[in-house]
Amino acid sequence: MAIISSKKQPPDPDESPDSEAKQSPKESLRQAGQPIADKSLNPEASPDEEGKQEERLRPQRLADYIGQKDLKDVLDIAIKAAQGRKESLDHLLLYGPPGLGKTTMSLILATEMGVGCKITTAPALERPRDIVGLLINLKPGDVLFIDEIHRLPKVTEEILYPAMEDFRIDITIGKGQSAQTRSLSLPPFTLVGATTRVGALTSPLRDRFGLVQRLRFYELDELTEIVVRTAQILHTPIDQEGAIEIARRARGTPRIANRLLKRVRDYTEVKALGLITGTIASEALHLFNVDPCGLDWTDRRLLQVLIERFDGRPVGLDTMAAITGEDAQTIEEVYEPYLLQIGYLQRTPRGRIATAAARAHLGLTTPLSDNQLPLLF
Ligand code: ADE
Repeated sequence: MAIISSKKQPPDPDESPDSEAKQSPKESLRQAGQPIADKSLNPEASPDEEGKQEERLRPQRLADYIGQKDLKDVLDIAIKAAQGRKESLDHLLLYGPPGLGKTTMSLILATEMGVGCKITTAPALERPRDIVGLLINLKPGDVLFIDEIHRLPKVTEEILYPAMEDFRIDITIGKGQSAQTRSLSLPPFTLVGATTRVGALTSPLRDRFGLVQRLRFYELDELTEIVVRTAQILHTPIDQEGAIEIARRARGTPRIANRLLKRVRDYTEVKALGLITGTIASEALHLFNVDPCGLDWTDRRLLQVLIERFDGRPVGLDTMAAITGEDAQTIEEVYEPYLLQIGYLQRTPRGRIATAAARAHLGLTTPLSDNQLPLLF
Protein backbone atom coordinates (compact mmCIF):
# COMPACT_ATOMS: atom_id res chain seq x y z
CA MET A 1 0.00 0.00 0.00
CA ALA A 2 1.63 3.18 -1.15
CA ILE A 3 1.66 6.05 1.29
CA ILE A 4 0.66 9.09 -0.68
CA SER A 5 0.86 11.80 1.87
CA SER A 6 3.09 11.40 4.86
CA LYS A 7 5.58 14.09 4.07
CA LYS A 8 5.54 17.17 6.23
CA GLN A 9 5.50 20.05 3.85
CA PRO A 10 5.64 23.68 4.84
CA PRO A 11 2.35 25.36 4.01
CA ASP A 12 2.48 27.32 0.80
CA PRO A 13 2.26 30.95 1.88
CA ASP A 14 0.48 31.77 -1.36
CA GLU A 15 -2.30 29.33 -0.75
CA SER A 16 -5.68 30.66 0.25
CA PRO A 17 -8.91 29.24 2.16
CA ASP A 18 -12.08 27.36 1.05
CA SER A 19 -15.32 26.78 2.75
CA GLU A 20 -17.93 24.88 0.84
CA ALA A 21 -19.68 21.82 2.72
CA LYS A 22 -23.15 20.54 2.95
CA GLN A 23 -24.78 23.51 4.53
CA SER A 24 -27.99 25.42 4.31
CA PRO A 25 -28.10 28.54 2.15
CA LYS A 26 -25.61 30.87 3.65
CA GLU A 27 -27.97 33.58 4.92
CA SER A 28 -25.85 36.21 6.56
CA LEU A 29 -22.70 34.17 7.14
CA ARG A 30 -20.86 36.63 5.04
CA GLN A 31 -20.84 40.34 5.05
CA ALA A 32 -19.97 42.33 2.01
CA GLY A 33 -16.37 41.70 1.06
CA GLN A 34 -15.75 38.83 3.47
CA PRO A 35 -15.39 35.19 2.41
CA ILE A 36 -17.75 32.67 4.01
CA ALA A 37 -16.28 30.40 6.64
CA ASP A 38 -17.99 27.04 7.08
CA LYS A 39 -18.47 26.97 10.83
CA SER A 40 -19.33 23.28 10.84
CA LEU A 41 -15.83 22.31 9.84
CA ASN A 42 -14.05 23.47 12.92
CA PRO A 43 -16.35 24.88 15.55
CA GLU A 44 -13.54 25.53 18.00
CA ALA A 45 -11.42 27.61 15.67
CA SER A 46 -11.76 31.37 15.72
CA PRO A 47 -13.15 32.81 12.47
CA ASP A 48 -9.68 34.00 11.56
CA GLU A 49 -7.93 30.69 12.16
CA GLU A 50 -10.71 28.87 10.43
CA GLY A 51 -10.58 31.17 7.43
CA LYS A 52 -6.82 30.76 7.14
CA GLN A 53 -7.03 26.99 7.39
CA GLU A 54 -9.70 26.85 4.71
CA GLU A 55 -7.80 29.33 2.55
CA ARG A 56 -4.81 26.98 2.46
CA LEU A 57 -6.91 24.27 0.86
CA ARG A 58 -8.04 26.26 -2.15
CA PRO A 59 -6.17 25.72 -5.40
CA GLN A 60 -4.69 29.00 -6.59
CA ARG A 61 -4.34 28.48 -10.32
CA LEU A 62 -6.44 26.88 -13.03
CA ALA A 63 -3.73 24.24 -13.48
CA ASP A 64 -4.03 23.19 -9.81
CA TYR A 65 -7.81 22.90 -9.96
CA ILE A 66 -8.85 19.25 -10.11
CA GLY A 67 -11.98 18.30 -12.10
CA GLN A 68 -14.55 20.43 -13.99
CA LYS A 69 -12.55 19.94 -17.19
CA ASP A 70 -15.13 21.48 -19.53
CA LEU A 71 -15.45 24.55 -17.36
CA LYS A 72 -11.67 24.94 -17.13
CA ASP A 73 -11.34 24.66 -20.91
CA VAL A 74 -13.96 27.37 -21.45
CA LEU A 75 -12.40 29.67 -18.86
CA ASP A 76 -8.90 29.10 -20.15
CA ILE A 77 -9.98 30.36 -23.58
CA ALA A 78 -11.90 33.29 -22.10
CA ILE A 79 -8.88 34.31 -19.97
CA LYS A 80 -6.43 34.10 -22.87
CA ALA A 81 -8.77 36.00 -25.21
CA ALA A 82 -9.37 38.77 -22.65
CA GLN A 83 -5.66 39.02 -21.91
CA GLY A 84 -4.88 39.15 -25.63
CA ARG A 85 -7.27 42.05 -26.09
CA LYS A 86 -6.20 43.66 -22.80
CA GLU A 87 -9.81 43.67 -21.69
CA SER A 88 -11.57 42.57 -18.54
CA LEU A 89 -13.04 39.08 -18.57
CA ASP A 90 -16.67 38.80 -19.63
CA HIS A 91 -19.26 38.52 -16.82
CA LEU A 92 -19.63 34.93 -15.69
CA LEU A 93 -22.54 33.11 -14.10
CA LEU A 94 -21.62 29.88 -12.29
CA TYR A 95 -24.42 27.60 -11.21
CA GLY A 96 -24.72 24.21 -9.56
CA PRO A 97 -25.14 22.60 -6.15
CA PRO A 98 -23.25 24.05 -3.17
CA GLY A 99 -19.70 23.01 -2.40
CA LEU A 100 -18.46 22.43 -5.95
CA GLY A 101 -15.98 25.33 -6.06
CA LYS A 102 -17.71 28.44 -7.39
CA THR A 103 -15.93 30.79 -4.98
CA THR A 104 -12.63 29.03 -5.60
CA MET A 105 -13.05 29.38 -9.35
CA SER A 106 -13.77 33.07 -8.98
CA LEU A 107 -10.59 33.61 -6.95
CA ILE A 108 -8.62 31.61 -9.51
CA LEU A 109 -9.95 33.80 -12.33
CA ALA A 110 -8.78 36.91 -10.52
CA THR A 111 -5.34 35.38 -9.94
CA GLU A 112 -5.05 34.29 -13.56
CA MET A 113 -6.06 37.76 -14.75
CA GLY A 114 -3.71 39.40 -12.22
CA VAL A 115 -6.54 41.42 -10.64
CA GLY A 116 -8.24 41.70 -7.27
CA CYS A 117 -11.37 39.83 -6.20
CA LYS A 118 -14.10 41.21 -3.94
CA ILE A 119 -16.42 38.61 -2.46
CA THR A 120 -19.92 39.24 -1.23
CA THR A 121 -23.30 37.57 -1.03
CA ALA A 122 -26.60 38.85 -2.41
CA PRO A 123 -28.45 39.10 0.93
CA ALA A 124 -25.70 41.48 2.14
CA LEU A 125 -26.57 43.91 -0.67
CA GLU A 126 -29.85 45.05 0.77
CA ARG A 127 -29.53 48.80 0.23
CA PRO A 128 -28.46 50.55 -2.98
CA ARG A 129 -25.48 51.98 -1.19
CA ASP A 130 -24.13 48.49 -0.43
CA ILE A 131 -23.66 47.63 -4.10
CA VAL A 132 -22.70 51.20 -5.09
CA GLY A 133 -19.97 51.17 -2.42
CA LEU A 134 -18.53 47.95 -3.81
CA LEU A 135 -18.73 49.05 -7.44
CA ILE A 136 -17.11 52.42 -7.06
CA ASN A 137 -14.18 50.91 -5.17
CA LEU A 138 -13.34 48.38 -7.88
CA LYS A 139 -10.03 48.73 -9.69
CA PRO A 140 -9.79 48.22 -13.46
CA GLY A 141 -10.32 44.56 -14.34
CA ASP A 142 -11.29 43.49 -10.79
CA VAL A 143 -13.57 40.53 -10.19
CA LEU A 144 -16.69 41.11 -8.10
CA PHE A 145 -18.05 37.79 -6.84
CA ILE A 146 -21.68 37.75 -5.72
CA ASP A 147 -22.78 34.50 -4.15
CA GLU A 148 -26.45 33.46 -4.13
CA ILE A 149 -27.06 35.99 -6.85
CA HIS A 150 -30.65 34.77 -7.31
CA ARG A 151 -31.38 36.46 -3.98
CA LEU A 152 -30.44 39.99 -5.06
CA PRO A 153 -32.96 42.61 -4.00
CA LYS A 154 -34.66 44.25 -7.00
CA VAL A 155 -33.13 47.69 -6.37
CA THR A 156 -29.65 46.23 -6.29
CA GLU A 157 -30.27 44.21 -9.41
CA GLU A 158 -31.39 47.30 -11.30
CA ILE A 159 -28.22 49.14 -10.33
CA LEU A 160 -26.25 46.23 -11.73
CA TYR A 161 -27.80 46.34 -15.21
CA PRO A 162 -26.00 49.48 -16.52
CA ALA A 163 -22.96 48.59 -14.39
CA MET A 164 -22.63 45.26 -16.19
CA GLU A 165 -23.54 46.53 -19.62
CA ASP A 166 -21.86 49.93 -19.85
CA PHE A 167 -19.67 50.12 -16.69
CA ARG A 168 -21.83 52.93 -15.41
CA ILE A 169 -24.20 53.48 -12.51
CA ASP A 170 -27.09 55.88 -12.41
CA ILE A 171 -27.44 57.59 -9.07
CA THR A 172 -30.47 59.59 -8.04
CA ILE A 173 -29.67 62.62 -5.93
CA GLY A 174 -32.43 64.37 -4.00
CA LYS A 175 -36.08 63.47 -3.67
CA GLY A 176 -39.38 64.27 -5.32
CA GLN A 177 -39.45 66.95 -8.01
CA SER A 178 -35.90 68.12 -7.36
CA ALA A 179 -34.47 64.61 -7.79
CA GLN A 180 -31.71 64.38 -10.40
CA THR A 181 -30.07 61.36 -11.97
CA ARG A 182 -26.31 61.39 -12.44
CA SER A 183 -24.33 58.84 -14.32
CA LEU A 184 -21.08 57.68 -12.78
CA SER A 185 -18.62 55.70 -14.85
CA LEU A 186 -16.95 52.64 -13.41
CA PRO A 187 -13.73 50.90 -14.36
CA PRO A 188 -14.28 47.78 -16.50
CA PHE A 189 -14.82 44.85 -14.15
CA THR A 190 -16.00 41.25 -14.20
CA LEU A 191 -19.06 40.19 -12.30
CA VAL A 192 -18.99 36.55 -11.27
CA GLY A 193 -22.40 35.48 -10.04
CA ALA A 194 -22.88 32.17 -8.27
CA THR A 195 -26.17 30.42 -7.72
CA THR A 196 -27.63 27.08 -6.81
CA ARG A 197 -30.86 28.09 -8.59
CA VAL A 198 -30.19 29.44 -12.04
CA GLY A 199 -33.90 29.26 -12.86
CA ALA A 200 -34.64 31.77 -10.11
CA LEU A 201 -32.63 34.53 -11.82
CA THR A 202 -34.61 37.12 -13.71
CA SER A 203 -33.93 36.99 -17.44
CA PRO A 204 -32.60 40.59 -17.67
CA LEU A 205 -29.93 39.64 -15.15
CA ARG A 206 -29.16 36.22 -16.65
CA ASP A 207 -28.91 37.72 -20.14
CA ARG A 208 -26.20 40.14 -19.06
CA PHE A 209 -23.73 37.35 -18.36
CA GLY A 210 -21.53 36.59 -21.37
CA LEU A 211 -20.64 33.18 -19.95
CA VAL A 212 -23.10 30.90 -18.16
CA GLN A 213 -21.46 27.75 -16.85
CA ARG A 214 -22.62 24.82 -14.76
CA LEU A 215 -20.46 23.07 -12.20
CA ARG A 216 -21.13 19.36 -12.08
CA PHE A 217 -20.61 16.81 -9.33
CA TYR A 218 -17.07 15.43 -9.22
CA GLU A 219 -16.09 11.90 -10.23
CA LEU A 220 -14.64 9.48 -7.68
CA ASP A 221 -11.11 9.71 -9.11
CA GLU A 222 -11.23 13.53 -9.04
CA LEU A 223 -12.39 13.57 -5.44
CA THR A 224 -9.74 11.03 -4.50
CA GLU A 225 -7.11 13.34 -5.97
CA ILE A 226 -8.57 16.28 -4.03
CA VAL A 227 -8.48 14.29 -0.75
CA VAL A 228 -4.82 13.36 -1.37
CA ARG A 229 -3.96 16.98 -2.15
CA THR A 230 -5.73 18.28 0.96
CA ALA A 231 -4.11 15.60 3.13
CA GLN A 232 -0.73 16.76 1.86
CA ILE A 233 -1.48 20.37 2.77
CA LEU A 234 -2.72 19.28 6.22
CA HIS A 235 0.32 17.00 6.72
CA THR A 236 -2.01 14.04 7.22
CA PRO A 237 -0.68 10.60 6.27
CA ILE A 238 -3.17 8.76 4.05
CA ASP A 239 -2.97 5.90 1.59
CA GLN A 240 -4.83 5.50 -1.71
CA GLU A 241 -7.55 3.26 -0.18
CA GLY A 242 -8.10 5.76 2.63
CA ALA A 243 -8.51 8.58 0.12
CA ILE A 244 -10.92 6.53 -2.02
CA GLU A 245 -13.01 5.60 1.01
CA ILE A 246 -13.42 9.28 1.92
CA ALA A 247 -14.03 10.34 -1.69
CA ARG A 248 -16.72 7.68 -2.10
CA ARG A 249 -18.70 9.23 0.74
CA ALA A 250 -18.23 12.85 -0.34
CA ARG A 251 -21.39 13.14 -2.46
CA GLY A 252 -19.45 14.32 -5.49
CA THR A 253 -18.50 17.47 -3.57
CA PRO A 254 -14.94 18.66 -2.72
CA ARG A 255 -16.10 20.68 0.25
CA ILE A 256 -17.61 17.56 1.79
CA ALA A 257 -14.53 15.49 0.90
CA ASN A 258 -12.33 17.96 2.77
CA ARG A 259 -14.69 18.08 5.73
CA LEU A 260 -14.81 14.28 5.97
CA LEU A 261 -11.03 14.09 5.70
CA LYS A 262 -10.74 16.38 8.71
CA ARG A 263 -13.11 14.21 10.73
CA VAL A 264 -11.18 11.06 9.79
CA ARG A 265 -7.93 12.84 10.66
CA ASP A 266 -9.34 13.60 14.15
CA TYR A 267 -10.30 9.94 14.61
CA THR A 268 -6.92 8.68 13.42
CA GLU A 269 -4.99 11.11 15.61
CA VAL A 270 -7.03 10.51 18.77
CA LYS A 271 -6.69 6.75 18.38
CA ALA A 272 -3.00 7.15 17.45
CA LEU A 273 -3.48 5.04 14.34
CA GLY A 274 -0.91 6.90 12.25
CA LEU A 275 -1.89 6.35 8.66
CA ILE A 276 -5.43 6.80 7.29
CA THR A 277 -6.20 3.52 5.53
CA GLY A 278 -9.41 2.39 3.88
CA THR A 279 -10.47 0.44 6.97
CA ILE A 280 -9.76 3.34 9.32
CA ALA A 281 -11.58 5.85 7.08
CA SER A 282 -14.57 3.57 6.86
CA GLU A 283 -14.65 2.98 10.66
CA ALA A 284 -14.38 6.69 11.36
CA LEU A 285 -17.08 7.67 8.90
CA HIS A 286 -19.38 4.98 10.24
CA LEU A 287 -18.90 6.58 13.66
CA PHE A 288 -19.83 9.96 12.19
CA ASN A 289 -22.97 8.42 10.72
CA VAL A 290 -21.95 8.87 7.09
CA ASP A 291 -22.97 5.76 5.18
CA PRO A 292 -21.01 4.15 2.31
CA CYS A 293 -22.92 6.27 -0.23
CA GLY A 294 -22.24 9.47 1.70
CA LEU A 295 -25.80 9.77 2.93
CA ASP A 296 -26.21 11.20 6.39
CA TRP A 297 -29.05 11.06 8.86
CA THR A 298 -31.10 13.77 7.14
CA ASP A 299 -30.79 12.20 3.67
CA ARG A 300 -31.92 8.88 5.06
CA ARG A 301 -34.76 10.47 6.93
CA LEU A 302 -36.01 12.26 3.80
CA LEU A 303 -35.98 8.99 1.88
CA GLN A 304 -37.59 7.11 4.75
CA VAL A 305 -40.44 9.60 4.89
CA LEU A 306 -41.09 9.17 1.18
CA ILE A 307 -40.97 5.40 1.36
CA GLU A 308 -42.65 4.68 4.65
CA ARG A 309 -45.12 7.48 5.08
CA PHE A 310 -46.20 7.82 1.49
CA ASP A 311 -45.39 4.38 0.14
CA GLY A 312 -44.09 5.64 -3.20
CA ARG A 313 -46.76 8.29 -3.80
CA PRO A 314 -45.40 11.69 -4.93
CA VAL A 315 -44.87 14.13 -2.08
CA GLY A 316 -44.69 17.92 -2.31
CA LEU A 317 -41.60 19.76 -1.08
CA ASP A 318 -43.51 21.66 1.60
CA THR A 319 -45.01 18.46 2.94
CA MET A 320 -41.53 16.91 3.18
CA ALA A 321 -40.27 20.01 4.94
CA ALA A 322 -43.15 20.00 7.42
CA ILE A 323 -42.76 16.32 8.26
CA THR A 324 -38.99 16.28 8.61
CA GLY A 325 -38.62 19.72 10.18
CA GLU A 326 -36.04 20.70 7.53
CA ASP A 327 -36.21 23.98 5.68
CA ALA A 328 -37.79 23.50 2.21
CA GLN A 329 -35.05 25.50 0.47
CA THR A 330 -32.34 23.47 2.21
CA ILE A 331 -33.99 20.24 1.11
CA GLU A 332 -34.24 21.49 -2.45
CA GLU A 333 -30.80 23.04 -2.81
CA VAL A 334 -28.61 21.03 -0.47
CA TYR A 335 -30.02 17.52 -0.05
CA GLU A 336 -31.95 16.77 -3.19
CA PRO A 337 -29.36 17.40 -5.94
CA TYR A 338 -27.19 14.49 -4.84
CA LEU A 339 -30.13 12.16 -4.19
CA LEU A 340 -31.32 12.95 -7.71
CA GLN A 341 -27.83 12.48 -9.12
CA ILE A 342 -27.43 8.99 -7.64
CA GLY A 343 -30.93 8.01 -8.72
CA TYR A 344 -32.46 7.70 -5.25
CA LEU A 345 -35.00 10.43 -5.82
CA GLN A 346 -37.18 11.54 -8.69
CA ARG A 347 -38.88 14.89 -9.09
CA THR A 348 -42.19 14.57 -10.88
CA PRO A 349 -44.73 17.32 -11.59
CA ARG A 350 -46.80 15.88 -8.73
CA GLY A 351 -44.00 15.70 -6.19
CA ARG A 352 -40.95 13.73 -5.05
CA ILE A 353 -40.67 9.95 -5.21
CA ALA A 354 -38.01 7.69 -3.67
CA THR A 355 -36.80 5.10 -6.19
CA ALA A 356 -36.39 1.35 -5.86
CA ALA A 357 -32.63 1.94 -5.53
CA ALA A 358 -33.25 4.12 -2.47
CA ARG A 359 -35.48 1.44 -0.95
CA ALA A 360 -32.81 -1.17 -1.55
CA HIS A 361 -30.08 1.06 -0.08
CA LEU A 362 -32.08 1.63 3.09
CA GLY A 363 -33.13 -2.01 3.24
CA LEU A 364 -36.75 -0.90 3.07
CA THR A 365 -38.37 -3.02 0.47
CA THR A 366 -41.78 -3.09 2.07
CA PRO A 367 -43.61 -0.09 3.52
CA LEU A 368 -44.05 -0.04 7.28
CA SER A 369 -47.54 -0.26 8.66
CA ASP A 370 -48.98 2.87 10.26
CA ASN A 371 -48.42 1.69 13.82
CA GLN A 372 -44.66 1.46 13.19
CA LEU A 373 -44.31 5.04 11.96
CA PRO A 374 -44.01 6.90 15.25
CA LEU A 375 -40.84 4.93 15.98
CA LEU A 376 -39.13 6.79 13.16
CA PHE A 377 -39.67 10.25 14.42
N1 ADE B 1 -9.92 21.68 -3.10
C1 ADE B 1 -11.23 21.86 -3.17
N2 ADE B 1 -11.65 21.77 -4.43
C2 ADE B 1 -10.58 21.53 -5.20
C3 ADE B 1 -10.38 21.33 -6.59
N3 ADE B 1 -11.38 21.35 -7.46
N4 ADE B 1 -9.13 21.10 -7.01
C4 ADE B 1 -8.13 21.05 -6.12
N5 ADE B 1 -8.26 21.22 -4.82
C5 ADE B 1 -9.48 21.46 -4.35
